[in-house]
Amino acid sequence: MLPLVKPYMAPANELMPEIEKILYSGYIAEGEAAWAFEDGFRTFIANPNTLAVQSGTAALHLALLLLNIGPNDEVISTPMTSEPTNTAIAITGAKVVWADVDPKTGLLDPNSVREKITERTKAIMLVHYAGMVCDMDAFNQLSAETGIPVIEDAAHALGAKYQGKLVGSNSRFTCFSFQAIKHMTTVDGGAIAFRNPEDLTPARKLRWFGLDKKVSRLENDITRAGYKYGINNLTGIIGQINLRHAQEIIDKYIANGRYYDEALKNIPGVTLVPYYAHTEPSYWLYTMKVENRDRFIQLMESIGVVASPLHHRTDTHSVFAASRCELPNMDEWYGKFVHIPCGWWVDEEAREKIADTIKKGW
Ligand SMILES: Cc1ncc(COP(=O)(O)O)c(C=O)c1O
Repeated sequence: MLPLVKPYMAPANELMPEIEKILYSGYIAEGEAAWAFEDGFRTFIANPNTLAVQSGTAALHLALLLLNIGPNDEVISTPMTSEPTNTAIAITGAKVVWADVDPKTGLLDPNSVREKITERTKAIMLVHYAGMVCDMDAFNQLSAETGIPVIEDAAHALGAKYQGKLVGSNSRFTCFSFQAIKHMTTVDGGAIAFRNPEDLTPARKLRWFGLDKKVSRLENDITRAGYKYGINNLTGIIGQINLRHAQEIIDKYIANGRYYDEALKNIPGVTLVPYYAHTEPSYWLYTMKVENRDRFIQLMESIGVVASPLHHRTDTHSVFAASRCELPNMDEWYGKFVHIPCGWWVDEEAREKIADTIKKGW
């Protein structure tokens, strides 16, 4: 079956000797290889104020910690995401407040967010779901107007653009994931990118127990307990080498996504997703709405292709019971959206077969 997600690994002859070198170097903890990856990623997203971390979840948690978010605070978020976006909020003790999505895109609706703001709102959590970028013109305006910081969960959106620039320096925080099935993987890993350089120093400390790496261990004084969220040299070397191929791989996702945007136009039963002004998706998954979704999924299965909605809406979990509310647009979106494979493993022949099969109907 042609899968929906698949990790890309650099060729073994490039990767394995470097992995072996690190493993037997006598230094596998955070060191040169980890920092070189961090530097490479900063260059890649063109934001020098970026830290590599253990996971996308760690990046989200750090963003919330840097805003001192905790019990009695509220964070407005979307149910249309993978669980860690919102469990990261829950572990701070803050309340997740659901805003509704735009039924055309499944992405957080800035008008609904505006209605949910209270004096307790400490952050707005956006998710560039499946590589589609939220309505950043509207969210930038809302954030500037209200002073409420935005955290962009860009776990699915490496390579996506806003105003012609890669996602990663627009909002106060942008969080990336290099988990196994993302555009680029370090097996597990992530990064947090800051708009303000002042966030770097406290974030570095929170990344390493609260210790200051610039001060000797004996003279260090922890003033705020931190976490173990840094990366090691093994993660670093895998990241460095996979990063060399990242643009070429992302370009394949984008080329396939653009192909579907054209090939699937005007097909009865298919509604394509419009992209917001000044945004360019990186198509981690190709997303659309279809009528008779179960039959559509069966049709794809019959030609050896996995199609699925992939993520379960997050607001139905018991841990978020106190946040439950009516989200009519989410209900409408959730009943219809589906993903088809779009990544680097989908070649021209496969994407044409998928499009031709859809055109015939289901
Ligand atoms: C939207 C989204 N946010 C955050 C995460 C968390 O990333 P990680 O698995 O690297 O912790 C993921 C995926 O796993 C995700 O899909």
